[in-house]
Amino acid sequence: MSEAPQGCAWIEGSYLPIAEARIPILDTGFVRSDLTYDVVAVWGGKFFRLDDHLDRLERGCERVRLRSPMSRAETEEILEQVVARSGLREAYVETVITRGVPTPGERDPRRFENRLYAYAIPYVWIQRPEQQEVGSKVVVARDTVRVSPGAIDPTVKNFMWGDFVRGLFEAYDRGAVLPILTDGDGNVTEGPGVNVFVVRDGALATPARGVLEGITRQTVLDIATELGIPARVGEVPVSALYETEEIFLTSTAGGVMPVAELDGRPVGAGGVGSLSARIRATYWDWHDDPRFTRSVDYGD
Ligand SMILES: Cc1ncc(COP(=O)(O)O)c(C=O)c1O
Repeated sequence: MSEAPQGCAWIEGSYLPIAEARIPILDTGFVRSDLTYDVVAVWGGKFFRLDDHLDRLERGCERVRLRSPMSRAETEEILEQVVARSGLREAYVETVITRGVPTPGERDPRRFENRLYAYAIPYVWIQRPEQQEVGSKVVVARDTVRVSPGAIDPTVKNFMWGDFVRGLFEAYDRGAVLPILTDGDGNVTEGPGVNVFVVRDGALATPARGVLEGITRQTVLDIATELGIPARVGEVPVSALYETEEIFLTSTAGGVMPVAELDGRPVGAGGVGSLSARIRATYWDWHDDPRFTRSVDYGD
């Protein structure tokens, strides 16, 4: 029996069961959303693309001028420990780096001591596998646009989800489960926790700008290369969503998630497209591929 079967967190040097994990209320991660974070999956007891996730976390820190208090090797050890102590073979593993807790009266972010928090909880599905088998209902948000990259850099993974949450409420109100947000200028960006792919004439396209450079998105591009499927990273006009054969969404929390219905109408021929299904199957096969995985030592 593991010591924290519901999940394990590392907070200020201690490993704790997830239900007991607390952050200080004055941490600017909480009161200002001044942070960056990353989420890596563990599947079948193995991290998937851990190096890519940690590279992105380090790039994010540089862009918003955060300095992790932990070295890369220390961070890897903490992530391994939260997973091993939870005993979870399928886990959602988050690392958060915040600006930290200011000394009383301090407002200059250069003077804060940045903090790292980490935890592992059971794997999270944005869309459950049984929903993925039939495809999900999605809308293009009309009431909300994605925050401008000139205001919040979307390549730095962040908790500023005001636009996404507003979009989610709109999606639910319209009988769907997820919104796709536009840039307000006629182009597709992304959705809450997901990148967007469209398929046209057997070729993939995904937006280049105004989005997180998702690791799942990169994995899909790598799969496309390996399977000889043409793929383009560039501008995707909103009109392309209505002329496409297939649409799918990608995230560490759920993988490759086919979209069956957009704005109440079937996408392409309806149901799950053949390319989406093929890419989704390969995506999960790769979770057992030594090129992308690293085993967790559970000590048993
Ligand atoms: C805004 C946003 N876009 C896209 C993604 C997908 O990224 P990844 O595939 O690295 O999980 C996420 C992940 O949480 C996200 O928060």
